[in-house]
Amino acid sequence: MLLSFLSSFIVVCVHLSHAVTFRPVVLMHGVTATAADMNELAGWIRDTYQGIYVVSIEIGNGYEDSFLFPLNKQVQIFCQTVSSDPKLQQGFNMIGVSQGSLIVRGAVERCSLPVYNLITLVGVHQGVFGIPGLQMLPPPIRELVSKYAYEDSVQKIVSVAGYWRDPFQLDKYYAKSQYLPDINNEGTTRNETYRSNMLKLNAFVMTYSDIDEVVSPPESGLFRGFKANSVATEVWNETRQYQEDLIGLKTLDEQGKLYRFKCHTKHQDAQHTPDKDFIFENVLPFLNNTI
Ligand SMILES: *[C@@H]1O[C@H](CO)[C@@H](O)[C@H](O)[C@H]1NC(C)=O
Ligand SMILES: *[C@@H]1O[C@H](CO)[C@@H](O)[C@H](O)[C@H]1NC(C)=O
Repeated sequence: MLLSFLSSFIVVCVHLSHAVTFRPVVLMHGVTATAADMNELAGWIRDTYQGIYVVSIEIGNGYEDSFLFPLNKQVQIFCQTVSSDPKLQQGFNMIGVSQGSLIVRGAVERCSLPVYNLITLVGVHQGVFGIPGLQMLPPPIRELVSKYAYEDSVQKIVSVAGYWRDPFQLDKYYAKSQYLPDINNEGTTRNETYRSNMLKLNAFVMTYSDIDEVVSPPESGLFRGFKANSVATEVWNETRQYQEDLIGLKTLDEQGKLYRFKCHTKHQDAQHTPDKDFIFENVLPFLNNTI
């Protein structure tokens, strides 16, 4: 009697644990880092959502290729890796950190990946400009970007050049940058696929840190760069990006699908212990959904 009660109890439990399948989560690390840099965050996600599939994507060899592959190539490899994972076919949530913010967003726009919630931590959506953003790079690479970012040869070999947005040379940025103006749909003909793919999202979540010492301006995490010929930061809803709804930000905002959060951590700590409370409170709830 007791035994049969126990065994049916176990059957019910096994059944229940299969009834709930959390949407998988894809993680993308930042520049001069490797997939292992996301392990702590992955652990928090697994502890919170039992049985969830979490995968941290590596591109090339990780550390070096994160800055020596241009972002066009990185997005292509990222999309191939994600698309060929059988566990991701039914859709997933995605988190990109720092440079990873541009890889995950580019992948949504270009590869029409089945993403439910797109989350970026301390991102660089409106580019970076100035020395802080280069500190993590080896000195020769730093020099290439700060002096020659808009040369074709540099665009082709350094990831950061693809989102170097010099407010004093915006004409050059639009003409020469091979990555960010494209995925931000700032060219003369805009790609409607990019916009319609962004509008398929259930939520687009962006964070920045008010003490970010690397991303300049830190508000780039919220899609605000430097105003033209200035180092004043753009007002969110006064930009051409927002007003012309180039990739759908205005529409997402009006639909209540756009979330912006401010954290208070050093750049490198955005997905680590010093930011743990912020992540649990503001980010993990966006992973509480099932397929
Ligand atoms: C828009 O982007 C899609 C996906 O990357 C691409 O297949 C298509 O050729 C692009 N369209 C234009 C007009 O550039
Ligand atoms: C921008 O947003 C602010 C605050 O929500 C609002 O008061 C203002 O009218 C908006 N400006 C534009 C140009 O939409």
